[in-house]
Amino acid sequence: MLSIPIAAATLLGTQPVGGLAQDAEHWYKVHPGMARISQVNQDTYQIVDEFGRTRFFHGTNVVMKQPPWHRPLEWVPGVSSFGEQDVQNLHDLGLNVVRLGHSWTGGEPVRGQYNQTFLDILMKQTKMAEDHGLYVLVDVHQDCLSRQFCGHGVPDWFVKGNWVSSDEMYPFPLNPTPFPVDNSGFPSPQSLCDTVNWALGYTSVAVGNAFGRLYNNYDGLSDAFAAYWKKLASEYVEMANVVGYNLLNEPWVGDTWADPTLLVPGVADHKVLEGLWNHAAQQIRTVDNDTLIWFEGATLDILSGFNNVPLGDGSKSVQSYHYYSPPQLGSISTTLNNRRKDSERLRTAGVLTELTFWMGDEKQMQGLADAMSATDASMVSWIGWAYENLYNGTSGLPYTELAKHYSRAYPAAVAGTPKSFSFSESSATFQLHFTSDPNIDAPTEIILPPSTFPNGYSVQVSPDSSLLQYVLDKRTLALFTSTSIKNATDIYIIVSPK
Ligand SMILES: *[C@@H]1O[C@H](CO)[C@@H](O)[C@H](O)[C@H]1NC(C)=O
Ligand SMILES: *[C@@H]1O[C@H](CO)[C@@H](O)[C@H](O)[C@H]1NC(C)=O
Ligand SMILES: *[C@@H]1O[C@H](CO)[C@@H](O)[C@H](O)[C@H]1NC(C)=O
Ligand SMILES: *[C@@H]1O[C@H](CO)[C@@H](O)[C@H](O)[C@H]1NC(C)=O
Repeated sequence: MLSIPIAAATLLGTQPVGGLAQDAEHWYKVHPGMARISQVNQDTYQIVDEFGRTRFFHGTNVVMKQPPWHRPLEWVPGVSSFGEQDVQNLHDLGLNVVRLGHSWTGGEPVRGQYNQTFLDILMKQTKMAEDHGLYVLVDVHQDCLSRQFCGHGVPDWFVKGNWVSSDEMYPFPLNPTPFPVDNSGFPSPQSLCDTVNWALGYTSVAVGNAFGRLYNNYDGLSDAFAAYWKKLASEYVEMANVVGYNLLNEPWVGDTWADPTLLVPGVADHKVLEGLWNHAAQQIRTVDNDTLIWFEGATLDILSGFNNVPLGDGSKSVQSYHYYSPPQLGSISTTLNNRRKDSERLRTAGVLTELTFWMGDEKQMQGLADAMSATDASMVSWIGWAYENLYNGTSGLPYTELAKHYSRAYPAAVAGTPKSFSFSESSATFQLHFTSDPNIDAPTEIILPPSTFPNGYSVQVSPDSSLLQYVLDKRTLALFTSTSIKNATDIYIIVSPK
């Protein structure tokens, strides 16, 4: 909580103040579209935009884990789509980022031949997101690597049936006998997949072996992965709303059967992952020098084991990490603290790119409430798992209890150095403390979801008249730092519901 002499602060309405509103309008007129995100401030470990503002993101994951590997555009209750209606809903709920799955399976169905139809659909979805003020994190997703292992991620041509001996095929040794397979090498019948816990699948001989081949470039497989990233980067290089390239979701540590040291915490990051990340990043940088490269470490790690970020440039990278309990044993605050230590050591930023939204039990609902206040307290951006969990599949309406937690007020952009922010769910009161940067003329932007402030809001600012208010759209309050503030100044804002 902030303790400031609020009695001395001004109480302003939500209307722009006098003639200065024209200045605000003018600023937006000469800076149309979304601000590009291409830098990390290596002193604060925060993401900054082209105007030098510190940026925060709240959003959801949108991943299609089966053919056609992209969500349908048309919105139908009970069907998890991603189109016009979806981006409008996400906008109204106060979210500003989507981690959008760009399956390698869908993108390169035949080795060396990209499916442009598929990539064009994802581009269309990314543009729709942009039209509604949403950033997109381009994510190459996987879980248990391939369809041959009851998972998804790499193309169907990737895994060969003779890589492990026939008695060690998936899911050996989770099952003493491998599953029977069809002509494509997929377990058949598919219902067999439900007999094995998918997360334990990583400990099978076949999955470890295939990851090992990805990491050691067997048959040019890491070249192919890097080439797919070059293709994606060439598609997205000009898109202003792309916040980054998430190289690979939840990478497994590799072939632990050949090299058990990979199971030692921290080892796989520098021994196998770092090489692949550098390889992909090099290819990306042949066509795109700007977009941030988001990298993940081994899912089970407590502290990162990387020697360095991809290509060694922490000003152009972000650590993408997840929190689930299990496998994380401590509280979310512990994870956030550890990832902060990673950011300090690697001189980069970190974003929580997966956490549980709600899958139907009360404990998860409380867990989300706790996670939301913990991420605010640590000033960390988050992307929840997953979009489809926000909605009642039957009615197609967002769960209102759930929305109370994630549909919150937050500073999407801060024109200076953020010192702290918080949102009280019970009183719907938002507080922000930042130190202004006189070199930034772009406004601070606070997202105030209309459903959270149904009757509007009041704004208190200290010092008096340090900020000019401008209502940009129904969810966004822009606050321009007054030109009379010549030096870095501590500014306090409180927004409360009417
Ligand atoms: C390419 O993507 C489109 C759109 O999903 C799909 O209809 C088509 O079958 C795909 N082509 C191949 C060769 O997979
Ligand atoms: C990226 O930067 C390097 C080094 O400055 C330069 O050689 C290269 O041409 C740039 N690539 C692109 C795509 O702009
Ligand atoms: C979902 O919506 C249906 C239809 O409106 C309703 O009957 C059901 O109780 C809802 N489920 C939950 C979990 O809210
Ligand atoms: C503001 O900054 C200028 C230049 O850095 C400095 O000379 C001046 O003393 C500062 N004024 C105040 C009131 O701190």
